[in-house]
Amino acid sequence: MSDAGNGHSPALVTGASGFIGRHLVQALLRQSREVLAFSRRPGALSDLQNPLLQIVQGDLDDPRSYGANLGRDVAVFHLAAVRSRPGSPARLFRQVNEVASVNLARASRRADVRKFVYVSSAVVFGPSFGAPVSEAAGVREAMSGECYVESRISSLLAMNRLAEEGLPLVTLCPTIVFGPDHPAHPNKITSHIRRLLRSRTEVVVAGGVQKRNLVFVDDVIRGILLAERLGNNGEIFILGGEDISHRAFNEMVSTLTGRRPRMCLSVPSWVASTSTRWLDRLSNHDRGSGYESAVKVLMAEWQYSSQKANQVLGYEWTPLRAGLLRTISFIRGEVQ
Ligand SMILES: NC(=O)c1ccc[n+]([C@@H]2O[C@H](COP(=O)([O-])OP(=O)(O)OC[C@H]3O[C@@H](n4cnc5c(N)ncnc54)[C@H](OP(=O)(O)O)[C@@H]3O)[C@@H](O)[C@H]2O)c1
Repeated sequence: MSDAGNGHSPALVTGASGFIGRHLVQALLRQSREVLAFSRRPGALSDLQNPLLQIVQGDLDDPRSYGANLGRDVAVFHLAAVRSRPGSPARLFRQVNEVASVNLARASRRADVRKFVYVSSAVVFGPSFGAPVSEAAGVREAMSGECYVESRISSLLAMNRLAEEGLPLVTLCPTIVFGPDHPAHPNKITSHIRRLLRSRTEVVVAGGVQKRNLVFVDDVIRGILLAERLGNNGEIFILGGEDISHRAFNEMVSTLTGRRPRMCLSVPSWVASTSTRWLDRLSNHDRGSGYESAVKVLMAEWQYSSQKANQVLGYEWTPLRAGLLRTISFIRGEVQ
């Protein structure tokens, strides 16, 4: 591959067909970068016609499918991961998020790639207790037993060891991302907004007072690209936006759309925990990868500070209201 001609190196994007991956591929193409979009299902990218875009079909579990694309001039953006979804087999998290991801990083180190931009998650810093969490908290196993969180932590620790051996690693930890999505990978928050638009009943757990940090997808893309340019090897940055409770979020969506919910149901935490535990048993879900885990995550607080990214990279986030307005306008433009 040749250099894209504007001083940027070509980019290999894993998880290119995913929610964030698609946005990143499009942003790189707007910068006139050559993009190798690594994906298991190229069909999900077929609408992105561009001479600078090459789709590489492959599976992260098979190093032969990406090996030939790693080289000294290449910047690797590693986004592929198994996300937290009730019912995903526990072994899959370790296999993809940890083993296959670390194999990709090792192969990148051997190929002497220009940069390895690793997209992890703010969950590695654990939930918050009253005050926003920053990178200074360090990686914390506060949600131990939750397969997704555990796989992200183990992978990050292994990546950091590779950075000490010379991998030009910069790690980004987005909080909870939302924005325009694609049917191939619907975004959780965007799907929740769709549900709020359709239904007059909203359901929250334990009053819905728990706060979490939400970030608009365009901000995450800008943060990733800034980190590629300005992040020193071995650095880690939280990319977040605004903290808001589940209930206040639902109210903001109602206000912005002019649709008032008729009824708000609050499920007590013990009812949510007990019923999901039974549901997981009946559905044969692995421990740490079922509905009970999802409820545990819902009941925790996830407030984060993006101050480091702001100070070091010049990262800025869109006010939640503005990001929501753009997302709602995207949803309203969809063919129903
Ligand atoms: N969305 C968020 O709120 C959020 C927050 C924090 C961190 N993150 C992190 O950001 C990254 C991207 O998230 P996302 O929301 O875009 O997730 P997503 O929509 O679920 O996309 C995940 C991507 O990973 C790919 N993938 C999974 N297993 C693979 C394998 N074995 N081989 C090759 N590709 C594989 C999927 O490919 P297919 O298209 O073939 O299924 C998909 O393109 C992930 O690392 C995620 O953990 C996301």
